[in-house]
Amino acid sequence: MKRKRLLIVYHSKTGKNGLMAKAVLEGANHPDIDVDVTFREAMEAGIEDLLEADGIIFGTPENFGYMSGALKDFFDRTFYEVEGQVDGKPYCMLVGAGNDGTGALTAIRRICNGYNFKEVQPPIVVVGDLEDQQLQGCRELGMAMAAGLEAGIF
Ligand SMILES: Cc1cc2nc3c(=O)[nH]c(=O)nc-3n(C[C@H](O)[C@H](O)[C@H](O)COP(=O)(O)O)c2cc1C
Repeated sequence: MKRKRLLIVYHSKTGKNGLMAKAVLEGANHPDIDVDVTFREAMEAGIEDLLEADGIIFGTPENFGYMSGALKDFFDRTFYEVEGQVDGKPYCMLVGAGNDGTGALTAIRRICNGYNFKEVQPPIVVVGDLEDQQLQGCRELGMAMAAGLEAGIF
């Protein structure tokens, strides 16, 4: 059977979401889990990445109560091109924010409903400084998504 592929799409300006996304990648690449992972900055990610993915993790700062412009641009560039070809793909979210994060979550959920994606794990929201424990949570989320894809449970 074809190996499942997890896509991690993220944006980070000052590094926090980059560290979170890399921790997710580490978890997804756990040696006991046999999935392929595509790791992309949002501005580099495109239509093929979405079409090939069996599951997706989105990571973004919250900017002005919304997702980053870079992640929104990814959605803007891909929506019509993949519409109807990505129904039901499982996804989850990471938001490394200053003091809130809820606006980014709400906005991504709304857009993902348009793609007919299915949210399968609770989001990770980190406000304030990024601690080791939160990075561990990101690793576990990456493992859970990858293991779930491999097992076909989503
Ligand atoms: C222009 C701008 C707007 C921001 N707006 C918000 C906001 O609405 N809510 C919030 O919680 N944090 C806000 N922040 C803080 C960022 O979300 C926070 O610094 C985040 O950790 C940056 O992630 P990064 O290091 O991956 O770039 C804003 C930051 C910038 C630069």
